[in-house]
Amino acid sequence: MSTLITNIGELTTNAEPGRLTDAALVLADGHVAWVGAAAAAPAADEVFDAAGRAVLPGWVDSHTHLVFAGDRTAEFEARMSGQPYRAGGIAVTVNATRAASDDELAATIRRHVAEAVAQGTTYVETKTGYGLTVEDEVRSARIAALHADEATFLGAHLVPPGADADEYVSLVCGEMLDAVAPHVRWADVFCEKGAFDADQSRAVLEAAAARGLGLRVHGNQLGEGPGVRLAVELGAASVDHCTYLSSADVDALAGSGTVATLLPACDLSTRQSLPPARALLDAGATVALASNCNPGSSYTTSMAYCVTTAVLQMRMSVQEAVFAATRGGAIALGRADVGHLAVGARADVHVLDAPSTTHLAYRPGVPLTHAVWRRGERVR
Ligand code: NIG
Repeated sequence: MSTLITNIGELTTNAEPGRLTDAALVLADGHVAWVGAAAAAPAADEVFDAAGRAVLPGWVDSHTHLVFAGDRTAEFEARMSGQPYRAGGIAVTVNATRAASDDELAATIRRHVAEAVAQGTTYVETKTGYGLTVEDEVRSARIAALHADEATFLGAHLVPPGADADEYVSLVCGEMLDAVAPHVRWADVFCEKGAFDADQSRAVLEAAAARGLGLRVHGNQLGEGPGVRLAVELGAASVDHCTYLSSADVDALAGSGTVATLLPACDLSTRQSLPPARALLDAGATVALASNCNPGSSYTTSMAYCVTTAVLQMRMSVQEAVFAATRGGAIALGRADVGHLAVGARADVHVLDAPSTTHLAYRPGVPLTHAVWRRGERVR
């Protein structure tokens, strides 16, 4: 079965050439089979007339926490009346998650992934981290791997209330990692005041690397700290948040293969500053944008909102923001087959109800997703 998407007003490929006008795409067997001028397009089994709309790769959401139960509206309301965001809020979701059945957790993640797909997201990473016992982290990892494209172990999200920090780190580095590692591709640690310090974070990351997992780090979310330096030193695929960076952090990221994943929806929802995207890009760092969807610090699945914010408030160009939310996320996840629309890429396609991607920022808050293909299948 092949599909010709034709009469594309503006096609963003994130490959060479980066943007085409009056273009067409052919999807076949779940992959992009042809890209070029609409006038030269080959025949296909079915035709979708984009009628001058913009087409781009599906969003790659490289940072979410979707295995959870419960709600933290009250905490959000308190924040909006001036209370600060604290890592300790994670424990509220841990209690609700432990009390939920596997079916309830699966239904919740399915609902959020479907919500994301309906807005143009076609590739989703998600994490454990609301279980914090061996049993609850393993079931979270199984559910994550089943319902998202990539699963990450985040047993080092918070020291469970009442637990001894060093004993908990030993558990994470030993029995918990042994049990979870077969279900996930990545390991992550929340390296921040109130969560895990540099030595504890290093221990977790080294233990994960020894089991063959790729590394990611939550760092520099609530203040400057060792997260970025550690991520770069250990060759992590990404360091996520990067809200508070010193110039040495920016230089370290620019000179490394570690992607700076920025989570602006989280920074707004927690009333933090927005990350220094311009400094990172100007220094030559690779930047990704992701939703950080979770019930505490960032309860949105909207990648368009992140792109809009990046353009309007972080001084990224539309092209930089769209790249960061597609190919940037793919690079952060070590995936060469998503986030772009060259021949051979996964057929993950997003059609906007607009003539250009500029409308994502020009028409903030307007739902612009018109059609979505995921692995070549029309899903919206
Ligand atoms: O990425 N920073 C740590 N973890 C999540 C927050 C989780 C929560 O508050 O429930 C984050 O913001």
